[in-house]
Formats: sequence, structure tokens, C-alpha cells
Amino acid sequence: MSSLLVDNIGELVTNGAGEGPLGIRRDAAVLVEEGRVAWVGPSAYAPAADHHIDAGGAAVLPGFVDSHAHLVFAGDRAAEFAARMAGEPYTGGGIRTTVGATRAATDDELRANVRRLRGEALRQGTTTMEIKSGYGLTVADEARSLRIAAESSTETTFLGAHVVPAEYADRPDDYVGLVCGPMLAAAAPYAKWVDVFCERGAFDVDHARAILACGQAVGLGVRIHANQLGPGPGVQLGVELGAASVDHCTYLSDADIDALASNRIDCMCHEGLHTTTVATLLPGAEFSTRSPYPDARRLLDAGVTVALATDCNPGSSYTSSMPFCVALAVREMRMTPAEAVWAATAGGARALRRDDIGVLTPGARADLVVLDAPSHLHLAYRPGVPLIRQVIRNGVPQ
Ligand code: NIG
Ligand code: FE
Repeated sequence: MSSLLVDNIGELVTNGAGEGPLGIRRDAAVLVEEGRVAWVGPSAYAPAADHHIDAGGAAVLPGFVDSHAHLVFAGDRAAEFAARMAGEPYTGGGIRTTVGATRAATDDELRANVRRLRGEALRQGTTTMEIKSGYGLTVADEARSLRIAAESSTETTFLGAHVVPAEYADRPDDYVGLVCGPMLAAAAPYAKWVDVFCERGAFDVDHARAILACGQAVGLGVRIHANQLGPGPGVQLGVELGAASVDHCTYLSDADIDALASNRIDCMCHEGLHTTTVATLLPGAEFSTRSPYPDARRLLDAGVTVALATDCNPGSSYTSSMPFCVALAVREMRMTPAEAVWAATAGGARALRRDDIGVLTPGARADLVVLDAPSHLHLAYRPGVPLIRQVIRNGVPQ
């Protein structure tokens, strides 16, 4: 059994016991054995190990947990982005363009695209990345999208209900029947989660409830795209169904916040109470669609658990960078740097109902990021700068 010691860590973010909400420890070291954190303590008392990384006084954080990404697609929509920057609104209508390109692509082309984006994210510190289907929208194309996604992640999500494809435009009920029947059956072996785009122009609340319930019935966990383009019933539907996460939350009513905030359970974790349904905010989407940013302060002040994720996709948010999302959350959503870093690590883990990632405490997966900076503050303070010096995933330096 080979061990790895990372020592001389100036600021270690544990998200467990320690200083402040990030559980910070100074002058610390982390011992890794068999892909897990075996010991955390003062650098001066660190045990010997087979391999050694000297952090040189830099900050070390848990790897980012990106709990919302759409990586299985072909083509891009740069022209649509340019049109938006010239004043066109984002409507989600471009999804069908990507569906056409994705259906026309070979398995190897889709696989190469997933690997490219997954690699890009890893180099920016993302050690866990959820991957959705949703640009196939036929039984075969959704199944192959998830098969390919499952090659790169265990956190895979069936999003056959992304939009109603053109060939079903005048019979959405039939499409919902397809999603709940043969499409779910073909997708479920490769999926852990089910998701629906519950929005005007996509799926209404009754269709969304039916699809999510079908997914739940075959053992998939629930997540939902909700309240992205306008106010709507998606957030409350997510809470009603016990979703792990409601994602976007750009337009929230008081009742939405109340529903999220009142949905708390006791847990034995470091910060005590947390919500069962996490609000996952995706500031890359607001950046790229020129929409108003979600009101993170209102959620946090109400006690809602907040996660940050990229929403990486070719339409509304073509970034794979969690550091960029952290910087946006701090600058544009009035999250403190500590809140944003927590949301991008432990928050993402909560949104995926995982307790083995997003923290650096004994027993956790050894997913670590060494920054080229002395503090987590620099992620927001130095936006756009490549601050990820070293990524260790599952105990293995990448
Ligand atoms: O999460 N809103 C729905 N789906 C994606 C956008 C997909 C696209 O525009 O291609 C999102 O923003
Ligand atoms: Fe999305």
C-alpha cells in the first residue's frame, strides 16, 4: 500500500472541524492512503509516507464538485452567443440545434467531446463532475449519451425531458409517454439521477412531476432545472418530490424560499442543520445569457444549502471552470469567498448526496487541489488567473 503526504500547507480548507465555515487549518499536512484521507494534522507532526508533495505554504482545498453539467453534445453555438451579446434574449430554443448535431455525431465524436471537457475541468480543479444526457431525445440517442457519460463519471443524469423534440412538437403527451416508457428503460441502467427542464417552452409542472415520479420509481434520484427563465412551479415541485437539488433558481418567490428553507433535516455534520433539497446556482448561465443573477444572499440568509456548479453546455454556459463560477458568485451574487468555496465543494457534494467528497477529513476521498496562492480568497480576488497548481484525484496526482 503506497502512501502520499502533502505537507507545508499554509491554509488547508477541510470543510470539517477547524476555523470558520471552511474548517480552515494552518500549517497543516494531509496523509493519503489507498485513495482516502488517512490523517490531517499539523505539518510539524506529519507521519512519513512513500511519496511527498511540499505545498510550499500554499492553500489546499477539496477538489471542486461540479454537480451540474451537460457534456454529451456535438457542435457549438458561438453565433447564438454573439447574437445574445448583441441584444437577443436566451430562450432555450437553441437546444434543438444541438440535438440535431448530437444525433448526427458518432459515438467516438461524442466521447472525445466529453473527455475534452472533463479534462479541461480537471485541470481547473474539478475532481467530481455530474454529466447529463439531454441532447439525444430519442431512445437510442439518450441511451448512448448516458453510456458515454458513464465512462467518465458515476454521477450521470437522464435528461430526456430537456425539451420536446421537433418531431413531437404537436404531441407533447406522446413524448412524455416515450420518456417515461422505453427511453427511461434504456437510459436507467447508465443513470443515477433523473432531471427535467421545468419551464415555459419546455415541460409544464404536470409533465415534470410525471417524469420525475417515473424516474424515482425505477430508483433514480431527483434533480430539476427550475425557475431559470422566469418564476414558476419547478422549485416547489422539487421540494415536494424530495429532490437532491433544484438548479438555476434565477427567479424565486418568497414561497419558493420558504419551501426550501422549511425543508430541513437534522444531520450530524459539522454545520448542524442542512436542507435536504439544495439550491444549486449556476452563475455561468447568467453571465452567458445576460440574465439577472440569482439572489444567493436571500437563500443563504434563509438557511438554504447552496451549491455552485458550471452548467457547462454549448448554449447557456460554455464554461467548465469552477474557479470562474466562484469568482462570479462573490462579485455578482454577494456570496463571501468562504461561502462560494464551500458551495463549490461541500455544497456540490450535498447536491449529489455524497458525504465522501467535498471535505478533507479522515475517511474522505483524497481529492485535493493545491492552489498557486496562499489562500482560498485568491480564487475570487484573482479572477481568470490559472491558480490550480496541482490536482490529486482519488489519491493520485494528475
Ligand atoms: O441548464 N436550461 C436548460 N438546459 C441548459 C441549456 C441548454 C442549452 O441551451 O443548450 C441549461 O441552461
Ligand atoms: Fe443545465
